[in-house]
Amino acid sequence: MPKREPIAVVVLAAGKGTRMRSDFPKVLHKAAGRTLLAHVLHSAAEAKPERTVVISGPGMPEVGAEARAIAGDAVIAIQEKRQGTAHAVGIAQDGLKGFDGTVLVLYGDVPLIRPETISALAQAVSEESPLAVLGFRAANPTGYGRLIQNRSGKLVAIREELDTTVDERRIDLCNSGFIAIKAKLLWELLPRITNDNAKHEYYLTDLVGLTVAEGRQVALAECPEAEVHGVNTRAQLAQIESLLQARYRQEAMDNGATLIDPPSVFLSADTEIGKDVTIEPHVVIGPHVRIGDNVEILAFSHIEGAAIADGARIGPFARLRPGAEIGKDAHIGNFVEIKKARIGEGAKANHLTYIGDASVGARSNIGAGAITCNYDGFEKHHTEIGADVFVGSNTALVAPVNVGDASNIAAGSVITQDVPADALAIARGQQVVKAGWAKKYRELKKAKKLQRGKR
Ligand code: UD1
Ligand code: MG
Repeated sequence: MPKREPIAVVVLAAGKGTRMRSDFPKVLHKAAGRTLLAHVLHSAAEAKPERTVVISGPGMPEVGAEARAIAGDAVIAIQEKRQGTAHAVGIAQDGLKGFDGTVLVLYGDVPLIRPETISALAQAVSEESPLAVLGFRAANPTGYGRLIQNRSGKLVAIREELDTTVDERRIDLCNSGFIAIKAKLLWELLPRITNDNAKHEYYLTDLVGLTVAEGRQVALAECPEAEVHGVNTRAQLAQIESLLQARYRQEAMDNGATLIDPPSVFLSADTEIGKDVTIEPHVVIGPHVRIGDNVEILAFSHIEGAAIADGARIGPFARLRPGAEIGKDAHIGNFVEIKKARIGEGAKANHLTYIGDASVGARSNIGAGAITCNYDGFEKHHTEIGADVFVGSNTALVAPVNVGDASNIAAGSVITQDVPADALAIARGQQVVKAGWAKKYRELKKAKKLQRGKR
């Protein structure tokens, strides 16, 4: 194997995304629980770039923060004024000082690009073809730059829609915008690009003509159109969401999960699902969820930021919020909400329960309607429940409070003090029974009614 060329990635993300009608930069909108920019950076990461430069617009510090959260060493460069894709790449030059390898240019608003496509594009670059363009066959090429080939099929130019002739407009081989180019050639040709075109912008696509004029060749890598859909509107964002969902559902099934009704299950880009997991219809899985083997997720459950161990059963109608850690073989039933709480192995909370900021030991049973009162209006407090505890129905555990192993809490209790191991705690009004009272009362009432009737 020849030594791999070092790679640098430049992500263009300076667009505001006016058509999104949003207060947030376009690339920070999310699909499948991940920002558009993060999708691109995650795919790019598999090419193991030595450097990453993200071109952001002015006044959008969140873009830089997001880039660094994913690619820790990313350099953020600001394009003060939008003057075209070539101008945007030029902004990356400082960040790439001293880099001598292949530069990949990607768009921050084209999130479906697969890692394999990015590496194929990078590998298309050679001594003979120091520039490679990623093209695709468009069902409707309108609006895209067209790839112009000579008679022997070699790429000779990219023509932007506004600059095409009628004949060229019929070409369906289009420019994705993604290129790979040797750094040396890039910095040599970039200053020669002018804005002498219909939009008066500096077009990165002019690199093709310039490379050919130098007597060098331009390689073409192709990918399916579905990978290079961009996002300009909310409707396009929804399309991207649905394409990503289809991809992730398929992956989950390929990896051994049963999705009874795939279209009604929503996954996130980072969802991890084990083997022999069954997911019933209408389940939403948000970011940061890990699901072990042999887990059942029943209908209408909403799960985010949770870790679910092997053999657990969740739902129907369960809500797992961030920090929920569900132990092996535990059962979380209908209308149960778990937040920032560890549920021990084999423990059960089967109905109508809220467990927040808590730990529940192995095999403990939480009765219907039991809740942890974790918030005093100002602060959150912890509830510690040991192993083998029985918490009766409708118990309120007023945190902070500890409930010892193998203790028993009577139904309807309001627990404000620690319960020792093996003890019974009852904290409710005592029952008073008055023998025959109801019968006497009934007779009294009946007699009164009769008297009124006689008057
Ligand atoms: C570009 C290509 C076109 C291709 C199409 C694919 C050029 C000249 N044209 O056209 O051949 O078919 O993409 O979608 O490259 N950006 C900046 N700063 C700028 C300009 C653009 O950061 O000054 C970013 C945008 O935010 C976007 C990307 O670069 O992420 C592409 O820009 P866009 O305006 O969408 O280019 P198109 O006109 O669609
Ligand atoms: Mg575009």
